[in-house]
Amino acid sequence: MRNKLKYRIIIVVGLALPLALAQAGLQKAPAPTHAEVDGLALTPPMGWYPWNTFGEEPQNERLIKEIVDALVSSGLKEAGYTYIGPDEGICFSRGSDGKLTTNRERYPSGLRGLGDYIHGKGLRYALYTDAGTKTCSKAMPGTKGYEFEDMKTFADWRADYIKIDWCNAEGMDIVEAYSLLARAQRAAGRPVVHSLCSWGDGYPWRWAGAIGHMWRTTSDICAPGRADWDRAVRIAFANEKLSRFAGPGRWNDPDMMVVGMPGLTEVQNRSLFSLWCMMAAPLMAGNDLRAMDKSTVDILTNLEAIGIDQDPLGAQGHVVWNNGNLSLWAGKPIFDGSAAVLVLYLGKSRARRWISWEEVGFAAEDELYVRNIWTHETSGPHSGGIEVTVGPDGVVFLRISKTNEFPVPPVLVADRTRVMLHSNGSGPEELKGTLAITNRGSSDLPLWRVDPETVPSWLSVEVIKNSRTQTFINTASTAGLKKGSYHAVVRADNVEPISGKPMSSFYYDVDLELNNIEFINVPLNRGAPYDKDQDK
Ligand code: GLA
Repeated sequence: MRNKLKYRIIIVVGLALPLALAQAGLQKAPAPTHAEVDGLALTPPMGWYPWNTFGEEPQNERLIKEIVDALVSSGLKEAGYTYIGPDEGICFSRGSDGKLTTNRERYPSGLRGLGDYIHGKGLRYALYTDAGTKTCSKAMPGTKGYEFEDMKTFADWRADYIKIDWCNAEGMDIVEAYSLLARAQRAAGRPVVHSLCSWGDGYPWRWAGAIGHMWRTTSDICAPGRADWDRAVRIAFANEKLSRFAGPGRWNDPDMMVVGMPGLTEVQNRSLFSLWCMMAAPLMAGNDLRAMDKSTVDILTNLEAIGIDQDPLGAQGHVVWNNGNLSLWAGKPIFDGSAAVLVLYLGKSRARRWISWEEVGFAAEDELYVRNIWTHETSGPHSGGIEVTVGPDGVVFLRISKTNEFPVPPVLVADRTRVMLHSNGSGPEELKGTLAITNRGSSDLPLWRVDPETVPSWLSVEVIKNSRTQTFINTASTAGLKKGSYHAVVRADNVEPISGKPMSSFYYDVDLELNNIEFINVPLNRGAPYDKDQDK
């Protein structure tokens, strides 16, 4: 009897305690990641940011537009690079009313105008700010005390990605500060990739997955203008130690890339790009895209390497062993059952080494095919392992599989990310605008599913599938609307067909302008007016 009572007490306490703790907020329930809510950045974000090459001074609208054009004409857009915009380039100041105002001398079209240009090219708009009182150079205001106002302004400027630095934040609690900014971003109503930039301060990999999509793990990779190989390699080795914290929608960020910058050889460029792909790092190019040699373009657009970075399983590879000069990197399973493997050599001569299947996660008796990511050659089947030879500062970057097929996961390229519809009519009419997304990966995608909650009553969206390209047909009906501007952010979702893993949600803007319609004989009861003048 006594024992029974004892057990009953234990059971009751055992059930009641976690409940009480949870109610008191003391027990950690797994928080949903930011990406589970908005579906963004389920694979590492790709794009370009100016800081590594330009620093603060030369950044202005003309420079950013030239780089946008170069990103398109060089083929980087076709390889999946999409987020682009100014870093700390004195973009805005705070007016006496507390609102952020574009620096019109540097950005004559306004920051909203620059965003429209970028969206018109099928790319996505990245902006920069700081969680403290000022940005790092102290030339721009930080968000402290203005979190909700500033995130609303960024949303009005149509940002899709916001890098938030951690300068001039003395005395602030880092988790509270970035959480508040994430709440402010959600309240602003526009889904954005939230890129935390505390250089590892506050150990963001422990907590930032619930509030952002990526976080810097180290200090800056270079001083603006010149790459530093030793520093970049040190950063890679620091970042790889955090591999267990990465996954879809939550990425360790070893900083923007230095590939193609002065200070590096072609071999070093290839090695760094391979390391970033192996670590499922965000691929934000940092070189001058207007002045790239062919080898830099070939490296940055190698779809086989990009496919490893963009793998939908989202595993970050890590060092298996490191003997000082030679290291083996594995632990990156790929969606089709294959795996990525990298051997890096930092010595002066040449290294030759047998890599066994067991060291890289396969069974000793497996017969495996080996794809070389840089020579694009497949060999095999091999028994037991493979011998690799690698020269100074070089890598051997491989994908290993039980089959001799090496599919590339979806790489999406949109012809635009904004649909504009105008009506000057005097009566109700239907306006159509299309937007196409092409998949550069190797499998056909299922049809995109449009989220009906993101389609307002004045809009309907139909998706048409045509081999690798799917077209969104947007039809706006002006019946019942009066003169003004209307805006929707449409969300579409899809899965990678081989693994069934969700892909990053695809968002685009639809703008409807009704210019001369003074009166339509239908009551006004639909749509929300949109203020297009907020960039003043
Ligand atoms: C920090 C960041 C850099 C860059 C500069 C701008 O150093 O780490 O990437 O944004 O600020 O001042």
